[in-house]
Amino acid sequence: MMSRRELLAAPAIVRAQERKEKIRIAVIGAGNRGSFLLRHLLELEGAEVAAVCDILPERADAAATAVAQKGGSARTFTDYRRMLDEMKDIDAVVQATPDYTHREIDIAVLERGLHLYAEKPLALTVEDCRAVRDAARRAKGVMQAGFQLRHDPARAAAMRWIHSGRAGRVLLCHGMRHGGDLPREIGWYFDRTKCGDIVVDQGIHILDLFRWAIGKPPLRCYGDGGTALFIDTPPGRTVMDHYSLIYEFEGGVQINFSHHYFDPPGFTGIQERVFLSEGAVDLIRGEFQPRTERQRVKLEAPEAGQDATRLSLAAFLDNIRHGRRPLNDADSAYEATLVALMGTRAIYEKRIVTWKEMEG
Ligand SMILES: NC(=O)c1ccc[n+]([C@@H]2O[C@H](COP(=O)([O-])OP(=O)(O)OC[C@H]3O[C@@H](n4cnc5c(N)ncnc54)[C@H](O)[C@@H]3O)[C@@H](O)[C@H]2O)c1
Repeated sequence: MMSRRELLAAPAIVRAQERKEKIRIAVIGAGNRGSFLLRHLLELEGAEVAAVCDILPERADAAATAVAQKGGSARTFTDYRRMLDEMKDIDAVVQATPDYTHREIDIAVLERGLHLYAEKPLALTVEDCRAVRDAARRAKGVMQAGFQLRHDPARAAAMRWIHSGRAGRVLLCHGMRHGGDLPREIGWYFDRTKCGDIVVDQGIHILDLFRWAIGKPPLRCYGDGGTALFIDTPPGRTVMDHYSLIYEFEGGVQINFSHHYFDPPGFTGIQERVFLSEGAVDLIRGEFQPRTERQRVKLEAPEAGQDATRLSLAAFLDNIRHGRRPLNDADSAYEATLVALMGTRAIYEKRIVTWKEMEG
């Protein structure tokens, strides 16, 4: 990599090559997640954040300041369509806007031929998910979804072990996500019409990992949930504060998942375990417990300790450079989102919902 001084002194063709190595990125949505993604992007070799957009100008300004603090320069916008019209030289977009905006923004970006890193979920209805997936299939650019846990070193190591077959066949995935309530300062998190409720907005990460472990979509699902503690809190709340879901797959394989926000101190916990015929795998720890031995096996995770989001964004840049299909591509995000929508439908309608009816 050339220094800036060397670059300025170099002939134009070398400068053009050097510039080509850089991937010019626009960030849409500079709130909680967008600022986190931006922070990682600014640390990644070969990424240049050229524009930031947020409907709240102060957020776009704050993001541009973060870019400037790292020696870059980003134009600010409050209208993403204007940004796409004016910024003709960007290669990629990182989208971190509220869930109800994903369909519109993702499709607009994909239709411009740009690469897209899009936060999850894909969209909030099956039809909208299909529309985004189909746009991604037609698109010139790479689309990667924000299921960054697929890039978490321990979980990736666990998944390689499961998929190698060395732990036998998958019998059951057991997950729990028990914690405190959602951050109150983000209003749309509490409106199910804007976030699809907590299965689609939050539980989706763990459900995606389990579906990936099993390797196919479920046949049917049943569940129950509601609002037991945080009734109308914050005022107008329409999302649940707890639920449990059971998914059944071919061959009787199951996902059993419990998610709630009732966390008194000391009772918080996330668990992601896959039980197989030869033992059990802990996804979070990246460990295998054989059925017949006492000793646990720590699975080899070359990037252990590195942040999943950073690795996911680094993979996005690599996928763009090499034209590779992302691990968390639009097709896998489509299935993950449908699994979550299926769970929500089963809970709301208090009945067994089948994959067939989801897919229409
Ligand atoms: N992958 C993860 O682990 C993870 C974690 C948190 C959030 N998320 C996802 O990130 C996205 C953003 O969530 P958040 O927590 O940052 O919410 P947020 O409300 O803090 O941020 C969203 C930002 O988008 C802006 N915005 C809204 N509509 C816009 C539009 N049309 N154009 C441009 N900007 C617009 C808002 O002003 C806000 O600043 C959501 O899809 C959420 O599901 C993912």
